[in-house]
Amino acid sequence: MEDAGLRTWVDEMGNVHGRVEGANANTEALLIGSHMDTVIDAGKFDGALGIVSAISALKVMHVNGNLQNLRRPVEVIAFCDEEGVRFQTTFLGSGAIAGILSATTLEIPDKKNVTIKDVLKENSIEATEESLLKLKYDPKSVWGYVELHIEQGPVLEQVGFPLGVVKGIAGQTRLKVTVKGSQGHAGTVPMSMRQDPMVAAAEQIVLMESLCKHPEEYLSYGGHCSDSSTKSLSSSLVCTVGEISTWPSASNVIPGQVTYTVDIRAIDDLGREAVIYDLSNRIYQICDKRSVSCLIEHKHDAGAVICDSELSSQLKSAAYSALKRMEDDIQDEVPILMSGAGHDAMAMSRLTKVAMLFVRCRGGISHSPQEDVLDNDIWAAGLATLSFLENL
Ligand code: GLV
Ligand code: MN
Ligand code: MN
Repeated sequence: MEDAGLRTWVDEMGNVHGRVEGANANTEALLIGSHMDTVIDAGKFDGALGIVSAISALKVMHVNGNLQNLRRPVEVIAFCDEEGVRFQTTFLGSGAIAGILSATTLEIPDKKNVTIKDVLKENSIEATEESLLKLKYDPKSVWGYVELHIEQGPVLEQVGFPLGVVKGIAGQTRLKVTVKGSQGHAGTVPMSMRQDPMVAAAEQIVLMESLCKHPEEYLSYGGHCSDSSTKSLSSSLVCTVGEISTWPSASNVIPGQVTYTVDIRAIDDLGREAVIYDLSNRIYQICDKRSVSCLIEHKHDAGAVICDSELSSQLKSAAYSALKRMEDDIQDEVPILMSGAGHDAMAMSRLTKVAMLFVRCRGGISHSPQEDVLDNDIWAAGLATLSFLENL
C-alpha cells in the first residue's frame, strides 16, 4: 500500500487500511477492498485478488503521477476476517467498519476458548468495547463500497467472459446443531436400547438434503411461504453441513454427543426463513422419535443484498473498457450475475451503497487449493479497477 502512495494504518480489529485523499479531501470516500483471511485448505485468490487489484490500480496511478487527480478520497481496506472459520462469526472486519457487530463480539471464543479480544492482544491490539464501537465509519463520510472478487462459480466460464457485474448477493444463515444421546459401549448395548445421536444427526442431514433439493414438497411455514418464495428457492436454495464433531469420538463408543454446522443460503430472505423454520421442526421431530435431545443455535444471519444500480453500471463500463483495451472486437455485453457466496459487501451495504465485479475462475472452483484464475483475467480485473478509479 505504501508503494502505491497510500497512507496506511491497522485498526483495532486488525483491518489494514491504505488511503489517498485525491483532489477533494473533504468529499465522501470510495472504500474498496476485500478480505485477507482464508478458509482452511483454501486457494489463494478468494479475497486477496480484490485487495491486490485495488492496490495495483492505485500504484499505476501513483507511478503516473495521477493519484492527486482522483476526484474523491479512495481507501483500500484489507478486511481481517470474512470467512468466520475460527469464531463462526463472519464479517468481523467489515462488520466493525459498518458498525453492525454487537458490543459482546470481542468475547466470542474459538474452539480452544481463546477470545477475539485475546487474539487481538497477542497481536498488540488492545481492543475494548468502546474502541470496537468507534471503528464504525460515519455514513456521511463514505460515498460507496466496491469489491472485486473471483466468481467462485461456473457462470463466467460457461458464457466465456472474464468479468461480470454482480446484481445481488444471496442471504445466509449458519446454525450449530447439538444432538445429545446416551454414551455407551459399542459391543454391549443392544440396537433396540440405544439413544444414538450419530444416527439422529445422519437422518437429519439426509432430510436436510431432500428439503433443500425439493423445497416445494416440504415447506409449510404455517402456510405462509408464498408461491414466489417457493419458486425462487427452487433455483437458489443451497444447504451444507461442512463440519461435524462427535464426543468422545472412538470407534468402540456409542457417542454421547454429535455437533454439526448447517449453512443455508437463498436469494429470497422469507424463503430462507421458511426453510429454517421447517428444517428446525423436523430436526426436533427426529430427536423426539429417537429419544435424544437437540439444541439448534443461530450463529449467523445475513439478509440478501441488492447492489446499487448506478455504481454497478459504472463497474460495467469499466469492465467493458478494460476488455476493449485488451482485445478490440468485444461483441458481448458484460454479464450480470447473482452471488451465492457471501462477501464483505454484505456487511458494507449496511453502511453505504455497494457494487461488485466478479472475475472468472477455473471450473468455478473455490474454497479449495484447486482455485485458479488465468493471468489474462487478472490483468483484465486490474485494468477494470483502474478504469473505474480514473472515472470516479
Ligand atoms: C464466504 O466465502 C462464504 O460465502 O461463506
Ligand atoms: Mn471464501
Ligand atoms: Mn471471499
